[in-house]
Amino acid sequence: SWTAKSFIESTITEIREKVGDDRVVCGLSGGVDSTVVATLVHEAIGDQLQCIFVDNGLLRKNEFQNVLDIYEDKLHLPVKGIDASEQFLENLEGVFDPEKKRKIIGNTFIDVFDEAISHDDTFKYLAQGTLYPDVIESISFKGPSATIKSHHNVGGLPEEMNLDLVEPVRELFKDEVRNVGRELGIPDEFIKRHPFPGPGLGIRVISDVDKTKLNMLREADDIFISELRKQDLYDEVWQALVALLPVQTVGVMGDERTYEYTAALRAVTSVDGMTADWAHLPHPFLSHVSNRIINEVPGINRVVYDVSSKPPSTIEWE
Ligand code: XMP
Repeated sequence: SWTAKSFIESTITEIREKVGDDRVVCGLSGGVDSTVVATLVHEAIGDQLQCIFVDNGLLRKNEFQNVLDIYEDKLHLPVKGIDASEQFLENLEGVFDPEKKRKIIGNTFIDVFDEAISHDDTFKYLAQGTLYPDVIESISFKGPSATIKSHHNVGGLPEEMNLDLVEPVRELFKDEVRNVGRELGIPDEFIKRHPFPGPGLGIRVISDVDKTKLNMLREADDIFISELRKQDLYDEVWQALVALLPVQTVGVMGDERTYEYTAALRAVTSVDGMTADWAHLPHPFLSHVSNRIINEVPGINRVVYDVSSKPPSTIEWE
């Protein structure tokens, strides 16, 4: 029967046989899948692996540095951090359409990744965290998530790169990947992280993306997520997020009229993200988070809670 331990042993052997003395490059996203893949490949071939972690300027507050520290200090992965946030933000300037944003973010990532490895033509393989559901969806599934939103997990990098793929978890489901990660000694706080989309906060600023809106969103998101953790609710929900709405409304602060943005909180329960229910978070909790966001984040004077289920609503707002 399948155990994480036997999977790890056989996979390490397979990677060694496949790769031989060649070098492998792996793009890390800060998520569970790519981290498990990098750790597996690292166990197999050591420093023949080079990881790349790109700051696209669309990550959560302090996330790039925090995750980079975990990669380096806790997991001892050979990782190169690249700050490309200016490039991403420039390319996103003035773009409103969600699918266009996704495409721009995906293409910019390819450019940055390509540039990062272009000085080094010795890479023969690309390691990717493709999961079984990604494989199925990209081959045969033409259902909602394939046509409504272009999740770009599979086939992300173009053929011209001439790299052969190493996809050690392509037969696994998410919970199996988590088990493998635990067995590999990846810290639990990392394994249990909520899913976070590749385009990041870029699809949570519900309008064109700029630094001012991103910073507002980042602060509000940080308050929501850290309060979920503090009040032991983080593990109760499958995913939680804040969307910054492109709507300004009237408020009052002291004796002053305000005219500022609205933050929408969303938290869902789910098994696989395909369907989801809005999480029935306690009212005192929501009240506390709302007060904190309005008091602490300049530019936001209203907080609403999303009570829509999937379907028909999706988890992300874009
Ligand atoms: P939706 O919004 O389709 O989201 O209900 C389902 C899950 O997928 C994530 N998501 C994405 N992940 N690139 C990704 O890597 C994307 O473009 C993308 N769009 C949505 C979403 O966060 C949720 O976990």
